[in-house]
Amino acid sequence: MSFSYKEKISGFAWYEADAVTSTNDAIRELVKENASVVLSAVEQTGGRGRRGRKWLSIKGNLYFTFCLNISLNELSRYICMIGLSVAETVKKLSSKADIKIKWPNDVFLNDKKLTGILLENIKDNLWAVGIGVNIVGSPQIKDMPYQATSLKEEGITVERTEFLKMYLKTLTDIIEIYQKEGFGVILKRWSALAYNLGKEVTISNENRQKKGIFLRLDENGYLILKTDKGEERIIAGDLFV
Ligand code: BTN
Repeated sequence: MSFSYKEKISGFAWYEADAVTSTNDAIRELVKENASVVLSAVEQTGGRGRRGRKWLSIKGNLYFTFCLNISLNELSRYICMIGLSVAETVKKLSSKADIKIKWPNDVFLNDKKLTGILLENIKDNLWAVGIGVNIVGSPQIKDMPYQATSLKEEGITVERTEFLKMYLKTLTDIIEIYQKEGFGVILKRWSALAYNLGKEVTISNENRQKKGIFLRLDENGYLILKTDKGEERIIAGDLFV
């Protein structure tokens, strides 16, 4: 596999490859040298989504993975910040964009899925954060319960590496705010863009489904669901309406 070093962006050493199976796998080579690393690829031949789904490649879309050191007790907060940064990057490109974050961190534009995020543990507290952003096209992924879209299809023009730079700047700014001021302000920004907050939702994870009202995220980034048994704290899953 060959990567070429491009430049430093927002503290990350940025490498790019023409083609890799998945940037989430290829990053493991680079991280041996330097933990503050980001890898983008023009094409993925075996891109992965959550729940065993595929993430198909279209030339011009953005596929990248970076590494973050995150302790387990902060993981849900970081998951919020990673998704919020995608949403706020789109807002910077188009302030009127109807952008929503579907818990935990899918980003929807005009009610269609725009980006997907796949976090995988490398070792200890080191995580590979893989993000796919539909810049020019929206492959229909099999078994996906939603329609997909791209920035271009919704009238927003940006080059994929420009988006990458804007994203990493937004993310590092948000993490800095979190470290200086705590999670409260991040929670407010996340909640302002949350999909179906205050409404009835179904949360599903591997073996069960729970229905209730999506009341809020708590100070850890966990979802609080009001069910007929009272308030329940949900750490992981997928949200459906
Ligand atoms: C999902 O919504 O199911 C998550 C999709 C994550 C796709 C990105 S593209 C870059 C990185 N490499 C992968 O193989 N997957 C993630």
